[in-house]
Amino acid sequence: MIYFVTSNKGKFVEAEAIFGDLVQKNIGYTEIQADTLEEVASFGMNEVVSRLQGPVMLEDAGLFIDALKGFPGVYSAYGQKTIGNQGILKLMEGVQDRKAHFRSVVSYAEPGMEPVMFAGEVHGRIGHEARGTKGFGYDPIFCVGKMSLGEMEIVEKNKISHRAASMKALKNWLDKR
Ligand code: IMP
Repeated sequence: MIYFVTSNKGKFVEAEAIFGDLVQKNIGYTEIQADTLEEVASFGMNEVVSRLQGPVMLEDAGLFIDALKGFPGVYSAYGQKTIGNQGILKLMEGVQDRKAHFRSVVSYAEPGMEPVMFAGEVHGRIGHEARGTKGFGYDPIFCVGKMSLGEMEIVEKNKISHRAASMKALKNWLDKR
């Protein structure tokens, strides 16, 4: 059993499909404003690991759009809350280069253990409209092949996603220990 500290149900169900024995802990932690997802995850982990008696993981993710020089990136939560998917589509109006990637960093620790981190990415492009009602956040505007992540079932998203990649790397590491 692992505690997954997140308030995001969407993240939790994706992680649960990979790990099985997960418990969601919606206990909140400080998400610092930093230049990298690693810094955000590492600061958060230091805060929660002493509060939970057991194996704990947390994850920080972001959407990086090439034509916007990586924006929203580490500001993805703020971008989603403020301008949202429609705002991103507006910024991308008339933009030819629609390449973007999601990046995920997962941090894992047990009491008394130095945290470990694993990263994952998925490359795709920003669509011209929001499509699909599955998933969460930027999923409807991020396309891989012909489909947006918002049109994919969790099993399909988990074959390609940034989160699936970082979490499968963690799972591998745990299984090999
Ligand atoms: P955080 O990792 O919770 O800080 O996520 C930052 C922002 O990116 C939030 O607004 C999320 O909704 C969004 N986000 C994170 N992961 C995904 C994803 O897999 N699909 C779509 N949006 C995501």
